[in-house]
Amino acid sequence: MYYRDEVTTAVCPGSFDPITLGHLDIVARARALFDEVVVGVARNASKNALLSVDERVRLAQKAVEHAGLEGVRVEVVPGLLVDFCREVGAVAVVKGLRGGADFDTELPMALMNRHLAEVETVFVAGDAALLHVASSLVKDIARHGGPVDDLVPPGVGDAVRAALAQGGR
Ligand code: PNS
Repeated sequence: MYYRDEVTTAVCPGSFDPITLGHLDIVARARALFDEVVVGVARNASKNALLSVDERVRLAQKAVEHAGLEGVRVEVVPGLLVDFCREVGAVAVVKGLRGGADFDTELPMALMNRHLAEVETVFVAGDAALLHVASSLVKDIARHGGPVDDLVPPGVGDAVRAALAQGGR
């Protein structure tokens, strides 16, 4: 009979600016496939974040706790994702796909991470009921005073509104 005695770890990377229910759904699906999941909060150089890295980590940690996800931790990705994967001993990166546009963005990154360090990416289809949920839309709706609390884990909407009230974009 085939069995493995090694713990498998995967990284779910992203900007998480802020974490949404869509992200959390992918983290839970990743956890069903791997023994350990590290949610990697990265600075995306091409994006201007509304929330600080510390705040994004805090909100992600709270969301993971609230969802009761065991074997999931949240860490900062300080540099290259492939270096972070090596540090935590991850066997794969897990990314959620909402549709073709996500795939177009994700495929070059997956291939680049393989090129850099043979790190493989596993694509997971997100919950169909959450395909419209994106951090960018959450921020845009909140910026215009619209309701976002049913799109994000508890406390995230307040944090987004507070950051916007302080002049964040
Ligand atoms: O949520 P996002 O912004 O789509 O996630 C993109 C992210 C953070 C996964 C990507 O920018 C990343 O991996 N950043 C870490 C630095 C890095 O490794 N860059 C090269 C990626 S091929």
